[in-house]
Amino acid sequence: MKRVGILGGGQLGMLLANSIFTLGGRVNVFDPDPEAPACNHVKNSINFPWMNYDALNNFFDISDVVTYEFENVESAPLVSLGHLKPIYPSVKVLKTCQDRALEKKFLLAAGLPHANFVVADSVAHLRAQANHINFPCIVKTARGGYDGKGQFKISSREEYLAFLDDPKNDWLETFTGVVEEVIELETEVSCIVARPLNGAPVAFPILENIHKEHILDVTVLPARIPNSVQKKIKEIAIEAATKLDVCGLLTTEFFLSKTKSATSPGIECDGWYIYINEFAPRPHNSGHVTTSACCMSQYDALARILLDVPLQEPLVISTGTFCMMNLLGDVWLAQGSKDYDAKLDLSALRDHPQVLDVVIYGKREPRAKRKMGHFITYGKTPESAIEAAHAFRNSLKNIKVTAS
Ligand SMILES: Nc1ncnc2c1ncn2[C@@H]1O[C@H](COP(=O)(O)OP(=O)(O)O)[C@@H](O)[C@H]1O
Ligand SMILES: [Mg+2]
Repeated sequence: MKRVGILGGGQLGMLLANSIFTLGGRVNVFDPDPEAPACNHVKNSINFPWMNYDALNNFFDISDVVTYEFENVESAPLVSLGHLKPIYPSVKVLKTCQDRALEKKFLLAAGLPHANFVVADSVAHLRAQANHINFPCIVKTARGGYDGKGQFKISSREEYLAFLDDPKNDWLETFTGVVEEVIELETEVSCIVARPLNGAPVAFPILENIHKEHILDVTVLPARIPNSVQKKIKEIAIEAATKLDVCGLLTTEFFLSKTKSATSPGIECDGWYIYINEFAPRPHNSGHVTTSACCMSQYDALARILLDVPLQEPLVISTGTFCMMNLLGDVWLAQGSKDYDAKLDLSALRDHPQVLDVVIYGKREPRAKRKMGHFITYGKTPESAIEAAHAFRNSLKNIKVTAS
């Protein structure tokens, strides 16, 4: 039985582990936090800091193949460990995708569409760029950003210079990152590509993503954009996975605009301008919806690649619309779950037949913006699926749990 090592024990690792189990594989999880969601699901959970070489060595010893479920894994120890056992996607892919500056340079070199940007590796460099940037712009740190963290939108040159001079921003002294032009967004979508070691890559249906306070709130499948644009986006996502030489999953996040920009031309398709925003070389939050909507989910696809099982086309199992909605800690807090062993009262499910599936990650401490679970709805129209999702989440928020 093949043993898969997953670096990171979050919800993406938990759902990947389930798909590996159902194909007869075994799973080891490495995460410093023994309470991480995936750690509760596997027998072999190894809990040491990321830079503990001995513990990582043991982990590689007991695994036949290794993958990761988030990009902020320390890549330094993996360079040598990658000689012991295969790591999919490769450490080279991981390094590119975990650093925005490297990611943008890759897009430029590969001729893939992107928002115009400059790379800066010091505050002096940022200052020197002031006359070369088009405003509005977004300053983004190279490392560690997620859910909008490490990003600063700036509307004018004056504001930019004031931002650099602000004593509160003394952390900029060690800045490395990019300054990127703002794209006038019509919508945002993602495309997940599964690419095996040998064989043709497959692209999942295009997912439409709606964010709230920089955190993914809702994913709609199929995305509400013309078929021609969907087809073009799939082609670009496959081209990106191939040029990056990904073995495993590559999620590509896209910006879509209907406004032509001289400085950020993107790729035009039937009046839509397509830009790659960023990559995630792993399962993605937006891909949760594929567990209900597709005959092979993103997790199944990665499990198959890791276990050498052939892929199939991830066909959508029904016409109509599937909608994934995240459940953040605020839902638990609204129910009055204050304690450290938070449960969620799901009795409202009874009155919401459009809800197909609810997944709770088992994180013990609810915090307002923490991803704690998600659910998937189905509707004959996009409006019906999205409305059903909001109605269910509102019902959950209206339940008051009394302390037992
Ligand atoms: N250049 C841009 N133009 C327009 N919107 C942007 C731009 N960059 C980021 N955003 C907005 O901010 C969100 C988060 O940015 P992103 O680079 O994807 O960072 P994160 O790693 O936090 O997901 C995007 O989903 C988009 O809504
Ligand atoms: Mg993003």
